[in-house]
Amino acid sequence: MHNTRNVSERISWIGVNDRITPLFEAMWPMPNGIAYNSYLINDEKTALLDTVKLGSTPDFVETVEELLGGKELDYLIINHVELDHAGEIKSIVKRWPSVKIVANAMAQKMIKNYFDITENQMEVQEGDTLSLGHHELTFVFAPWVHWPEVMMTYDRTEKVLFSADAFGSFGTLDGGLFDDELNFDYYHDDMRRYYANIVGKFSKFVQKAFAKLAGIEIKIICPLHGMIWRTDPQKVIGLYDKWSRHEGDNAVVVMYASMYGNTAILADAVARELNAAGVKDIRVYDVSKTHVSFLLSEIWRCKGVVLGSCAYYGGLHPMMEHLTTEMETIGVKNKILGFFGSYTWSGGGVRGLKLFGEKSGCEVLPQTLDVHGTPFGDKMQPLKELAEAMASRVNG
Ligand code: FEO
Repeated sequence: MHNTRNVSERISWIGVNDRITPLFEAMWPMPNGIAYNSYLINDEKTALLDTVKLGSTPDFVETVEELLGGKELDYLIINHVELDHAGEIKSIVKRWPSVKIVANAMAQKMIKNYFDITENQMEVQEGDTLSLGHHELTFVFAPWVHWPEVMMTYDRTEKVLFSADAFGSFGTLDGGLFDDELNFDYYHDDMRRYYANIVGKFSKFVQKAFAKLAGIEIKIICPLHGMIWRTDPQKVIGLYDKWSRHEGDNAVVVMYASMYGNTAILADAVARELNAAGVKDIRVYDVSKTHVSFLLSEIWRCKGVVLGSCAYYGGLHPMMEHLTTEMETIGVKNKILGFFGSYTWSGGGVRGLKLFGEKSGCEVLPQTLDVHGTPFGDKMQPLKELAEAMASRVNG
């Protein structure tokens, strides 16, 4: 049985639930899998919007064929060329050699470089329209959400936005397809983690895309990953707006690297002091145990981030180095940072964190603590000051 559903009378979803691939982009864990969504509009003219990851399903072409019911495929609209969506372009062109590939100039170049396809191209510009008969499509460029060639396709007839990666999520679509058929609570964390890992770096471009879409009536959002939003599209728009503004909850996450438990003791102690100072939403993570993908998602969720590192050969512990490098790479912003650590010889953990803080562009609390040896007695006193300063900034 093919994995298809009607989005409306003339729009079909063709989906693949990938529960096999362990890491997205060979980097981000997908314990709950991921869905690749492709869409077919069956009008006087027919159009397929994006495909799926190559090899993720054995019968993609056959499914499109069945939905077409004997008609030709007139257009293949490519909103995004990343290979989790463009993987079946070649097989579609092979089956329907006269299909017109609708894409912008940058996407066309990528299609040439990936698939050596240059024939039957229909280049579109920002705001161009395409009539399928009943459906009138408009192309809205959304560069860097999440690659430079990305565009969205807006169906003015049914007010449907085919949004590419935007408004997507990790997680397979188990049983349901639409927002009113699924338990959003199950997807919420995976959606924020997808945002933080994949889209977050390009948050300012997400805001630019929002500006372009302002004033457009959107009844249904059809992303390339995750659920289709037909009942409450404003909910996912609101979440993406918040995340792309780097707005955190009144919460603090404490993340530490510790070799023999001294920095871990400080992490628990700072969490207790934060709680005593009035912060209720606190999470503590050992960065050597939890994958950076989940750490970044938690950082995205919280206003306050307290990092602790033992010294390691005069610098940061390598796992904390990894986290801070990733924070820099994806451009974490608008956080309040606090630092602590411990050392045996000449320090380095807190020094490394301060160097990171200077480059981060975030507000860094001046109260820090670098414990020589094991934390006990008065050595831990500065943690209280750090926690109180963080609590007043987060709750203030
Ligand atoms: Fe889902 Fe940027 O690919």
